Amino acid sequence: MSDGYLKLDKLTLAYGDTIAVKDLDLSIAKGELVALLGPSGCGKTTTMRSIAGLLSPASGRITLDGGDITRVSANKRNVGLVFQSYALFPHLTVYENVAFGLRLKGIGGKDLDAKVRAGIKSVDLAKFADRKPAELSGGQQQRVALARSMVMEPKVLLLDEPLSNLDARLRVEMRAELQRVQKETGVTMIFVTHDQIEALALADRIVVMLNGGIEQIGTPEEIYNKPVSAFVADFVGFENVFALENGKLATSNSLIELFSPIPQAVKGLAWRPRMVNLGSGPYQGTIRGTSFAGNTREYLLDTPLGSIKAEVDAELPTHAIGSMLPFDLPLAAAAPLSRYR
Ligand SMILES: Nc1ncnc2c1ncn2[C@@H]1O[C@H](COP(=O)(O)OP(=O)(O)OP(=O)(O)O)[C@@H](O)[C@H]1O
Ligand SMILES: [Mg+2]
Repeated sequence: MSDGYLKLDKLTLAYGDTIAVKDLDLSIAKGELVALLGPSGCGKTTTMRSIAGLLSPASGRITLDGGDITRVSANKRNVGLVFQSYALFPHLTVYENVAFGLRLKGIGGKDLDAKVRAGIKSVDLAKFADRKPAELSGGQQQRVALARSMVMEPKVLLLDEPLSNLDARLRVEMRAELQRVQKETGVTMIFVTHDQIEALALADRIVVMLNGGIEQIGTPEEIYNKPVSAFVADFVGFENVFALENGKLATSNSLIELFSPIPQAVKGLAWRPRMVNLGSGPYQGTIRGTSFAGNTREYLLDTPLGSIKAEVDAELPTHAIGSMLPFDLPLAAAAPLSRYR
């Protein structure tokens, strides 16, 4: 997948004595849409700032399109950056906001007009070219910010939580819009989010970060179905995550013998709530809570393994709180984790 159009080699980023990102290796193909996903403080913005040239690496190398840009200044990198706050010029129209960077580059006349009109059209704002930012919705303003970056024809476009200021409905619309613009223009895009659903919906590949390093890189399907660590499993909604010790399931109380052998390399097992078999199996649990979620119903069980979350079809007969039920954690369904911590 990755031909190394943009490459980060052993990148270490620091603020004074504080190391924010350590030895990061990442290779991104031309035209790829990559999501950086991870909890607050894991180093997403720091990584983006270094790619944009706003933060000089303590060590390591950044190459783009075959050239070493590690020490190239921000304005010579041809990297676009869109932040969560879109920072449009309030006194300028949509048209002039989009034209601004192009004018700075010395582009004018028909050439400028063509580029600006195409940019505005690409984000579906042709009708609003003469409006000021204050006369636009949040989503429309965000699209202006996107068009303003896109018209510069950056080699890489970096988006740092561009959707986090939008309400839920607009976010979903903007997600589709971003994906469409990216596919149409073929621009290489890195997108920061801490919303796993957004990352899964948008990205060709997801980079899950934790504590200034990469936990896992994979397609949305790989991240969703084959998390490599307990952290990633937890992050993508496997709510029943256990460490393994000597082939036994380590629960908060004791080590539980499994019914078939597990390879040595497997350090943990994780089950999504819907992978739990409720109603039959070798374990017993008491229902402590239940919640209806439309097509499904979730049960929280107190069990010798600790708390277990199970999800079943909502049409099935319901179980009352306090009732005791057998259940199983089928080994065949479990995601094997190669790292527990
Ligand atoms: N200007 C700064 N000076 C010192 N430390 C900083 C600075 N900016 C960020 N940090 C630290 O670097 C680490 C990474 O921060 P960063 O902003 O990259 O996180 P993030 O993944 O973008 O988080 P969020 O999801 O909250 O935006 C954090 O521990 C943060 O406190
Ligand atoms: Mg950030």
